[in-house]
Amino acid sequence: MKILDGKKTSNDIKNEIAIEVAEILKKGGRPPHLAAILVGEDGASLTYVNSKVKACQRIGFESTLIRLSKDISEDELLEEIDKLNNDPDLDGFIIQLPLPSHFNENKILNAVDPNKDVDGFHPSNVGKMVLNQPTFLPATPMGIMELLKRYQIETSGKHCVVIGRSHIVGSPISILMARNTNPGNATVTLTHSRTKNLKELTLQADIIVVALGKAEFLTGDMVKEGVVVIDVGITRVADQSKKSGFKLYGDVHFDELAEKASYITPVPGGVGPMTIASLLMNTLQSYKTRN
Ligand code: GUN
Repeated sequence: MKILDGKKTSNDIKNEIAIEVAEILKKGGRPPHLAAILVGEDGASLTYVNSKVKACQRIGFESTLIRLSKDISEDELLEEIDKLNNDPDLDGFIIQLPLPSHFNENKILNAVDPNKDVDGFHPSNVGKMVLNQPTFLPATPMGIMELLKRYQIETSGKHCVVIGRSHIVGSPISILMARNTNPGNATVTLTHSRTKNLKELTLQADIIVVALGKAEFLTGDMVKEGVVVIDVGITRVADQSKKSGFKLYGDVHFDELAEKASYITPVPGGVGPMTIASLLMNTLQSYKTRN
């Protein structure tokens, strides 16, 4: 079994981007600039957003974190988005999800200028992704594709079973894996809460992407020998022996899968860091298009 090391790979990508940023600055250009909006006080979301800000600092991007009270109105959030859409010195921004429940998520995401939508969540960018036109790909699925590419995992003609159909991961990764690209060209089965006989399907899979949010859901008896396993889950479980007060669990029972898988992503240190690297790649792409 080999580890698909997202931490190392994302560091490689960050180093590559940092070299490009240094070149830009040497020529007298301004640095690429990414902003993030965080509404409310969710601890996990704050951790994720802070990691994104820290990554920007490390590679020489400018970054702005906009923290808003969970009690602001939808109109106030839309005004904030409008300001970012019209800021000529901003290359891209994200709205960290989930939003507090009183927001209409679709309405908010639709308000983002598609040219600054480095999360790739705007319907026009989702449409371009489906049609295989150049666009910002959503960060987590893009990170998974990049990881498969850099580890030269064969996906063409393979059976890929995706567990979970979220707009952020499950649905877009199923589209990317089926596209006529490399990586891609897989035969994809998208499974979800109404799927019958999930185990029958996962037992046939050459590649499994689990994005469910249920700790240690995928167990050893559900997979065949040699499977490639991509674990997108990250669940916090209270653990007083940890300094943070919690332990992180993926959607995969790592010890059981490690015995059977040919490749597997760890949690933490797998897909998570690749999501951040993709966001930085999209922001650099936006910067280049805008300049
Ligand atoms: N919440 C969980 N994953 C993501 C992501 O990729 N982008 C944003 N904005 N929020 C998220």
